[in-house]
Amino acid sequence: MGEPIGVAVVGLNVGKAHLWAYQQLPERFRVVAVCDIDEGRAGRAAERNPGSVALTELAQICARDDIEVVNLCTPPGLHLDHIAQVLEAGKHVVCEKPLVGSLAAVDEVERLEASSGRRVMPIFQYRWGRGLQRVKHLVEAGVAGSLNTSSVEVAWRRRAEYYSVPWRGTWAGELGGVLTSHAIHAIDMLTYVVGPAERVFARTTTRVNPIETEDCAAASLQMADGSLATLVATLGSPEEITRHRFNFTHLSAESGTAAYESSGEPWTVTPDSPEALAAIEDAMEHFAPGHEGYVGQFDRFADSLRSGDDPPVTVADARAALEMLTALYVSSREGVEVMLPLPPDHPAYRGWTPT
Ligand SMILES: NC(=O)c1ccc[n+]([C@@H]2O[C@H](COP(=O)([O-])OP(=O)(O)OC[C@H]3O[C@@H](n4cnc5c(N)ncnc54)[C@H](O)[C@@H]3O)[C@@H](O)[C@H]2O)c1
Repeated sequence: MGEPIGVAVVGLNVGKAHLWAYQQLPERFRVVAVCDIDEGRAGRAAERNPGSVALTELAQICARDDIEVVNLCTPPGLHLDHIAQVLEAGKHVVCEKPLVGSLAAVDEVERLEASSGRRVMPIFQYRWGRGLQRVKHLVEAGVAGSLNTSSVEVAWRRRAEYYSVPWRGTWAGELGGVLTSHAIHAIDMLTYVVGPAERVFARTTTRVNPIETEDCAAASLQMADGSLATLVATLGSPEEITRHRFNFTHLSAESGTAAYESSGEPWTVTPDSPEALAAIEDAMEHFAPGHEGYVGQFDRFADSLRSGDDPPVTVADARAALEMLTALYVSSREGVEVMLPLPPDHPAYRGWTPT
């Protein structure tokens, strides 16, 4: 398997969850450094990760030659600069969502990645839930049939306290609201199974908290495969749930509703006939689920670094989600249906934010 890969985690709020995930894979990764401009946070994280050093500047991370992967968990508005700095230093990047704030920026990341010879892996950790992986496996095995409709619900709760962190709720800092920051995972799960959308119509509004960005959204999508999908997302639901449902000709598949674990089991897969059931059972004999969540993504990333294959989530995957966001915001703002893909001369190519 080779020596563990030296990794540094930068930004230590959600970054703590990344550190926990690396600790679950000691044969694959070694946390060499933790970094936060908040010295106290960095120090506490280093104590919980024996063998790591606490640093306060990304430049110090970039200067070290015992770090192969820099894992960015900094606020979204900083991602593009930080990715460029890390690639320039000759290291691989793992970066939290949203990767960057426009199609122009994600295309820039793609160019920087290609010229650096290093890899950029955006985070979409919900992909690796065992329930979603089971459905993906059945689709890829060809036993699901064609898709008729899908529905996606993201009903979470964010209160005033959440917005005490200054960048949240602002277009400049968070780059968007419930669509960009929260439903982006559910959107990725939809397109991971179904593929891209072809045309979208969306409405967004701000009703839950007094913030700049949207906290409620509803959208109607026609996917490129001809199927239809709905998406509804809010940060104002007292009961928090996430739910996906896919209605194929040979089976329907519905997730559980655990808000932050809905991609994991239990999912309910209902065959349309005894023949469909037999095909599902055959296909499941070849199902080999891996780790879930961040652990699952990092484990697959280690495989890809060693083999030279693409990372389990690519910049193109992040681009697909950002293109969907761009289309949804344009549709909502202009009250029109928007066709995808969006060309580079589209007015929103350089960003979906209103400023
Ligand atoms: N995948 C998920 O489920 C998930 C969940 C939460 C947050 N996120 C994403 O993770 C990122 C961070 O979110 P958060 O909630 O942890 O933010 P946060 O603001 O709570 O924490 C960010 C940390 O980064 C530090 N920081 C800021 N600038 C820095 C710099 N230049 N160098 C080093 N450290 C710096 C801050 O001091 C802070 O400790 C965002 O992109 C967010 O959307 C993803």
